[in-house]
Amino acid sequence: MATIIICFKSRFWTSYLPPLLLYILLPFPSHLKLRFHSIMDSLLQDWPEPVVCVQSLSESGLSTIPNRYIKPPSDRPSLSITSKQNQHSIPVVDLSGLMDDVAGCRATIQAISAACREWGFFQVVNHGVSVELMERMRETWRSFFQLPIKVKQVYANSPKTYEGYGSRLGVEKGAILDWGDYYFLNLKPASVRSREMHWPAQPCSLREITNEYEREVAKLCQTLMKVLSISLGLDVDYLQNAFGGGGGAGECLRVNYYPKCPQPDLALGLSPHSDPGGLTVLLADHRVGGLQVRKGDAWVTVQPLPGALVINIGDQIQVLSNSVFKSVEHRVLTNSMNERLSMAFFYNPRSDLPLAPAQELVTPERPSLYRPMTFDEYRMYIRKNGPRGKTQVESLKAQ
Ligand code: OGA
Ligand code: NI
Repeated sequence: MATIIICFKSRFWTSYLPPLLLYILLPFPSHLKLRFHSIMDSLLQDWPEPVVCVQSLSESGLSTIPNRYIKPPSDRPSLSITSKQNQHSIPVVDLSGLMDDVAGCRATIQAISAACREWGFFQVVNHGVSVELMERMRETWRSFFQLPIKVKQVYANSPKTYEGYGSRLGVEKGAILDWGDYYFLNLKPASVRSREMHWPAQPCSLREITNEYEREVAKLCQTLMKVLSISLGLDVDYLQNAFGGGGGAGECLRVNYYPKCPQPDLALGLSPHSDPGGLTVLLADHRVGGLQVRKGDAWVTVQPLPGALVINIGDQIQVLSNSVFKSVEHRVLTNSMNERLSMAFFYNPRSDLPLAPAQELVTPERPSLYRPMTFDEYRMYIRKNGPRGKTQVESLKAQ
């Protein structure tokens, strides 16, 4: 075990050993998996250096950002290729079509299917989530982030579960950090729901509004899971069942707060990553942009429509679909004029179920690309390494 921990210290092994280890350990007896979990748990015990809240840096009025937030030149927003606005943008799908006659319903399913195949990202309107509730959710969480830093730090999180108030993803010592703070909560299933101590006590309406929002967005996710199953030619309940059935799926909320950044050309609010889970429903800020989606070699800026929600495919749907649907890399830019708030609702598989490509999508011409893995094992990678593009899902492809 000692050798493994020493190996983890070098950069190469930090990036590649965890998936490799997972891959090697999978067919092994469960007592070895337990040992693997305890190794990972000990690595994720605490942050490697004191956490600095980005909001406090931003509010201190500095005109240049600390070196820890300066990306290497090739990763900076100004130097990477950005697709011209309007030239390209993610598709918009009107979900009211699902209530139409057969033809309307079929056309809507086809539009979603095409969006998943071509972009992995789309916006939905008439999605069934009350726009007024979305607004209340935004205002409540904005009020939370406006509380004094000392009040928020009561909820400071650790890399073991990430629940609470945090400012970094990944535990690599000396890593270049992203310009953003966040709040993370586990909502479902009940067995893993974040305990009382992890929920902000203020504003007092926060919990009720968040629960109401959870109920509505979960319904939307369940509908989308059906649409995606049909689009893949699977039984309508296939994906939901693979996620653990009706009450089994995992739901988490990550509220992102990106403070103003005095040098937005040098930093990123959130580095390129694909979401490790199933589906993500993002409530973005239509007044302050920042989200960019990868399309080929370029980054395409997402311009959310007022009242719309942004949907994207995560790695677990890439795995279940045997890579027919692909999770897509995205990142967040900062700006010097306005802070930005976004809410990512992650709809995930129950975390202890092994997931593998649907047998129906495995053929001699298209063999299974992934070995079974639980989401608990899968997400260790991003929890330890932080956002790293699509390295994990790509490196796990069976040879
Ligand atoms: C995320 C994410 C995008 C945004 O939280 O995983 O990609 O716009 N957020 O904040
Ligand atoms: Ni994301």
